[in-house]
Amino acid sequence: MPSFDPETLRADFPILSREIDGKPLVYLDNGATTQKPQCVIDSMTRFYSYENANIHRGVHYLSREATDAYENAREYLRESLHVPATHELIFVRGATEGINLITHGLSSQLEEGDEIVLTIMEHHANFVPWQVLAKQRGLTLRFAGLRDNGELDLEDWKSQFNSRTRVAAFTHVSNVLGTRNPVTEMTAFARERGVLTLVDGAQALPHGPVNLAAVGGDFYVFSAHKVFAPDGVGVLYGPREILNAFPPYQTGGDMIEQVSVKGTTFRAVPERFEAGTPNISGAIGLAEAFRYLSGIDWEAANAHEDELAAHAASELEKIPGIRVFGSAPGKVAIVSFLYASAHPHDVGTILDTEGVAIRVGHHCAQPLMEYLKVPATARASFAFYNNHSDVEIFLRGMKKVERFFG
Ligand code: ALA
Repeated sequence: MPSFDPETLRADFPILSREIDGKPLVYLDNGATTQKPQCVIDSMTRFYSYENANIHRGVHYLSREATDAYENAREYLRESLHVPATHELIFVRGATEGINLITHGLSSQLEEGDEIVLTIMEHHANFVPWQVLAKQRGLTLRFAGLRDNGELDLEDWKSQFNSRTRVAAFTHVSNVLGTRNPVTEMTAFARERGVLTLVDGAQALPHGPVNLAAVGGDFYVFSAHKVFAPDGVGVLYGPREILNAFPPYQTGGDMIEQVSVKGTTFRAVPERFEAGTPNISGAIGLAEAFRYLSGIDWEAANAHEDELAAHAASELEKIPGIRVFGSAPGKVAIVSFLYASAHPHDVGTILDTEGVAIRVGHHCAQPLMEYLKVPATARASFAFYNNHSDVEIFLRGMKKVERFFG
């Protein structure tokens, strides 16, 4: 039975009991990466201590065992994410590689004058690959804007579609504003017009399970390190038929059917896109993280995270000269702000002296910064293991910033 007690869960994350210069670590940079529970760390240690071997290649016991562990991880993730039988789950290096793989695959299928619809809140990972592709293939990129509260302007987004639209790529959750986009409505709208969709789920999974059958789109990507799992691994989900028609993204071992001096034939997905030895322990660690997360009551966890973020945002707004970005209904627990009296880097540096880790800068979303007409913001991003003490220490740190610069 899933349950939620933030203090009990917090104890599962060894790093959260660290001190920084004698002060308790206050980790509010979960948008950049999340911390790992002991069970995930143990699952990888166990693999290297007792099971390590290469997969899909050996007839020996260890290789069979490692292959089973890797493929069981895939199967467990398929079930957890409700991957339909028509779709495949491919292990990639992360969301960025997943998106690059898709733009590479689509390249030969798109023609000059075709159009791609993006939103202005995209992370560079879901922006630059499309921009490069557009330049290579003579495509037009169209961008949907936002409402004042940081919500996607859905009418504007819909109005970007026309008879040349081939792909719509959009984030599930904004890494800067916390806005949660209505992805099911968006994928349905695109599908009715025969437009392929790609959803960047990197910032959605850390805030609860995602049912890919319900999202309903074509491609979905996310990075494991943002879901309390190891870095260097992630997931690309997509329709088997479309993926099998893509040319290989990387070639080499394990993705081939037959190689001779005359030529090579390639395997179908998922192996088609898993050339070389994959991140075996990473896939195992990711499945372990999903097992761990399945024990959490997410309704209670989201209410807890949202309360912390709302409290932080309302206290920040009391500081003269502070502007908080993004108040879309249903947003996730991310608080981006700008202090008129100090550059975000100074804010981050002073908070660091109090053991508080936040992210400052453009958050790999420069088009959004341009749109908001700001050079950068400071961002406190929350996870279910944060607590009220974290918020109080963060706010005390902001008082120090105010004393310095106010
Ligand atoms: N995409 C990560 C962030 O938002 C790195 O911080």
